[in-house]
Amino acid sequence: MKQFLFITDLDDTLVPQNPAMAVDNDPAMVKLNQRLERHRQQHATKIVYSTGRSLFLYQELHKKQKERQKELLQPDILICAVGTEIYSYKDKDKLTLNSKWSDHLSEAWDRELVEKISAAFTKLKLQPESEQRPLKVSYLLEEKFAEQIVPELKHSLLEQKLDIQVIYSGGKDLDILPRKANKGMAMTFVRENLEIDVAQTVACGDSGNDIALFADREEKGIIVGNAKKELLDWHNANLNPNRHLAKAKFAAGIEEGLEYFGFLEG
Ligand code: GLC
Ligand code: MG
Repeated sequence: MKQFLFITDLDDTLVPQNPAMAVDNDPAMVKLNQRLERHRQQHATKIVYSTGRSLFLYQELHKKQKERQKELLQPDILICAVGTEIYSYKDKDKLTLNSKWSDHLSEAWDRELVEKISAAFTKLKLQPESEQRPLKVSYLLEEKFAEQIVPELKHSLLEQKLDIQVIYSGGKDLDILPRKANKGMAMTFVRENLEIDVAQTVACGDSGNDIALFADREEKGIIVGNAKKELLDWHNANLNPNRHLAKAKFAAGIEEGLEYFGFLEG
């Protein structure tokens, strides 16, 4: 067994959002955390959480898990806001934003114009203030409108020569990000900085904003058994031997995938 880079989404991948399901998932999550922590200590394996949440909402989840006595691990690196913010622990508990990454994304990003154009789409409802980030504009959009609105919105933004991408996740969340930013590109940045090989890298997810972790990639991918339709549809249309669709859900699905690829012994 040797070092690997482990990257996982949080909501509905490692931790179910539904409280009853979270309780069911607890034993699997505790076991997975123990195995990962042991691997980190023995083989310098790196643990990265990559979430759509802002740092504020990440800390809320962290607090909630602590209160439930089902703590998350302290990740080596934390990627927030759908790949647009990368934090690391400089001092023991102090998170520091990687400004090299933010500066790179800020080039050619015009947040005001993105908001102005999107405001014309009345079906889009702004998400809470905490989720509006310097490099991310986020809305709620009902699934029944998505098929029509997402392409129209993309078209309007691109028509203005904006260098952006639109990501629809979980049948409700719509994020507009710089084209150079997503979970996949943030993974590459982190992996290269840590100098870990693609073959020793594995990413886990459940929904639309995780597609970038899996698309055209040599890294290994794990899709948990409870994945959302948009990710499953994409997976079935783009099968790849480097990607494992787990039978098990949530943390147990992650563990199944890690064993499948031989990162953790069965
Ligand atoms: C998280 C974020 C939200 C985002 C969603 C999908 O829920 O809080 O802002 O839209 O992930 O990426
Ligand atoms: Mg998720």
